[in-house]
Amino acid sequence: METIDFEQIRLPKHVAIIMDGNGRWAQLRGKHRTFGHKAGAEAVRRAVTFARQKGIQSLTLFAFSSENWKRPQQEVSVLMDLFFTVLKREVKKLHKHNVRLRIIGDKQAFSDKLQQRIAEAEALTAANTALTLNIAANYGGRWDIAHAAKQLAEAVQAGKLSVEDISEDKLADKLCLAEQPAPDLLIRTGGEHRVSNFLLWQLAYAEFYFADVLWPDFDEHAFARAIADFSCRERRFGLTSAQVQQAILDTDVTTGE
Ligand code: IPE
Ligand code: IPE
Ligand code: MG
Repeated sequence: METIDFEQIRLPKHVAIIMDGNGRWAQLRGKHRTFGHKAGAEAVRRAVTFARQKGIQSLTLFAFSSENWKRPQQEVSVLMDLFFTVLKREVKKLHKHNVRLRIIGDKQAFSDKLQQRIAEAEALTAANTALTLNIAANYGGRWDIAHAAKQLAEAVQAGKLSVEDISEDKLADKLCLAEQPAPDLLIRTGGEHRVSNFLLWQLAYAEFYFADVLWPDFDEHAFARAIADFSCRERRFGLTSAQVQQAILDTDVTTGE
């Protein structure tokens, strides 16, 4: 029988979050949308601390989508400045807490200064092991898949890969997050029930959790509720419920738990 890692059922190894609702949070307070983005940065810090303390291996946060460039120029520029400042301010603390930082997305669109800061932050934290924090910036799920396909095409063109050998695994190897476990749990705050071009391939078997709370209000309790909800889900990966239950019994027998 197909082996399933039932440890995953209890605590997610990898949590992905669509951090939505910053603009509405600010507007509810009569403030400009950018005020919400600043408050959102604080919520990021809380979420990272929670994930690290709970022993989650990977946390992937959607910070800026490929489509967010279409927002008013002023909002885009505040978001870029904020990204730059937060990176500068937080990277030493992340390093101190043994967090590995990765930025996923099409980084070429960023200013040279920002790209350099990203490269330095990734290099400094590369060997850290407590938590991998992936920040998705100028990220799109369709871009990720197209980018992977392009790399395979280049390998074929160079004579290093034959078309017959192209498989799901080969394509998956070229995607962002390839070396990390697939996200088990996707959380979206802000009340919308959509994926907005986030990790389209990687979320194939993730559990989805939608919360009405706006991102700046997402705290430890809200995160804990999402994890608790996840731990009660039965993940079937295409099997029947009876097969899954049998596999749990078999696992318990072999591990003696
Ligand atoms: C999410 O909050 C942050 C980004 C997309 C950068 P929004 O800015 O989308 O906030 P709402 O959804 O308009 O409230
Ligand atoms: C998704 O939020 C992107 C991020 C959270 C970075 P959006 O606010 O851009 O998504 P839509 O437009 O409501 O689908
Ligand atoms: Mg939004």
